[in-house]
Amino acid sequence: MGTLADKLTVLLADAFESAGYDRSYGDVRVSDRPDLCQFQCNGALGAARQYRANPRQIAQNVVDSISAPDVFGALSLAGPGFINIVLKDEFIAAHIQEVYGDDRLGCEITSTLGRILVDYGGPNVAKPLHVGHLRAAIIGESIVRICRFVGHEAIGDVHLGDWGLQMGLIIEGLRDRRPDLPYFDAGYIGPYPEEPPVTIGDLEELYPQASEREKGDPAFAEAARQATVELQAGRPGYRALWRHFRDVSVEDLQQSYELLNIRFDLWLGESDTQDRIPGLIARLKEEGYATQSQGALVIEVDDPEDKESMPPLMLEKTDGAVLYGTTDLATIDQRVEQFQPDYILYVVDNRQQHHFRQVFKASYKTGVAPESTRLEHNGFGTMNGKDGKPFKTREGGVMKLKDLIELVTGHARARIETIESVREYDEEEKEHIARIVGVAALKYADLMNHRTKDYVFDLDRFSSFEGRTGPYILYAAVRIKSVLRRAEERGLQPDSILAPQSESERDLDLKLSELPSVVDLAFETRAPNHLCEYAFQLATAYNRFYHTHHILNEKDAERRASWLAVSGVTLRVLEKVLDLLGIEVPGRM
Ligand code: ARG
Repeated sequence: MGTLADKLTVLLADAFESAGYDRSYGDVRVSDRPDLCQFQCNGALGAARQYRANPRQIAQNVVDSISAPDVFGALSLAGPGFINIVLKDEFIAAHIQEVYGDDRLGCEITSTLGRILVDYGGPNVAKPLHVGHLRAAIIGESIVRICRFVGHEAIGDVHLGDWGLQMGLIIEGLRDRRPDLPYFDAGYIGPYPEEPPVTIGDLEELYPQASEREKGDPAFAEAARQATVELQAGRPGYRALWRHFRDVSVEDLQQSYELLNIRFDLWLGESDTQDRIPGLIARLKEEGYATQSQGALVIEVDDPEDKESMPPLMLEKTDGAVLYGTTDLATIDQRVEQFQPDYILYVVDNRQQHHFRQVFKASYKTGVAPESTRLEHNGFGTMNGKDGKPFKTREGGVMKLKDLIELVTGHARARIETIESVREYDEEEKEHIARIVGVAALKYADLMNHRTKDYVFDLDRFSSFEGRTGPYILYAAVRIKSVLRRAEERGLQPDSILAPQSESERDLDLKLSELPSVVDLAFETRAPNHLCEYAFQLATAYNRFYHTHHILNEKDAERRASWLAVSGVTLRVLEKVLDLLGIEVPGRM
């Protein structure tokens, strides 16, 4: 079905054609001067260049060849040849009626279905999940949902960082505390205990301590490096220990992600592709792609055609250790083999842009990725504190995600207590609402800016019930739920949508009709902020409508039933958009 603008584009294209011009000039879009008209078509300007004619005359010819009396309320020329469009209210209402009857709210399924693998989250085992990973998870989850709604098959992979030096550091850190554990005894032949020797709390302590010690204690640093090498070479005790670290971490991560309404399809990690690295490297050497450079093995990725020169991608260091890039290359190899994806999207910090450029170039050059698999880095900026530096706790440490969730929930809790109706709810429900509202505040604030921008963490602003905030939008959604609930209690049913009666109702209808174009834009640009802005505008349009009309007290039964239907479709659109953002809506508040 598409948007109203899509429907008008067909009519205008027909008109251009019957006036003797190319159809492609018929493109109609929402007006950027809503005070003058609802939609506009600027195609006559382009046509004037092609046909070497006066654009105003072309526009006039086009308007003259339109005959759709049921559609257009007014068609007028403006400026050098713009066509300004105002629709008949009946036509608008009929469109919203169609949206109401459509499961997909007017959004068509894409005709070019693809398989899209999304690499997001990227937490590191043993290191606490911190706010740096928050954005990856929040933005990535929304991108996955958008891809799916558009009709693609999307597969989300958390891509755990479970294979680096951090593992050696905690092995050595734990050895210091518990040298008696069998994992450290090279002569021990198993079986190893099933019970993990550490809790998540231990890991959260062990890693920072070990990483601090590494800086000032060369012997410890060397031991950790050695332990990492032995772990990677397969020393049984270290492998068993590593598996415990990984399991304990994953369990904790899953809890945090669950609270954030984030779910991955795959829980693969860097470790899962290590097996294929030797074979891959052998092939790359054989085919001449991997070459020696100052003792290291590299792939040259510099391209004289490029503006900037690019250093080679390092595959193996002098000591034989493989690197982050090697793992990413092997992961692409594995993903291509297993899934044949049309796209792999990497929702990872902007600061890794250079890394991904190198990896992508190396992948295409070596045929690890076929041309048909599009590799894309969807980078994002930093969440900063009010000092403009990456967000920290009051003590200056990195804030853990769990603490952050607790912080926003506590904040929301205080806010919702100010809502009269909420005060009567039992503790459990209050807590539930507080979590949803707190997380919505956080997620919306994160998603509302274009992902590549940095933003400042300002909990008071995020949590306000006014302006572009999660709570404001949730409140609008909950308000509609309450209207519909009260209507049902009184036995009132929604029915046919009538022509809008007021400006606020017309604006709401027009806003409702825009969903498909917003979804397309968010998908094409991998940018959920467009959905955030739309949710805000829709919530605002509904609030205005709600304050203009007394829906439940309306005496005219047909009118009341129409308003209930408009309210119902608004709720569905709002909930759909929030769902695409990964934001839940409470039943009431
Ligand atoms: N674990 C990495 C980090 O914390 C992010 C991983 C991103 N994904 C990837 N395929 N490299 O920086």
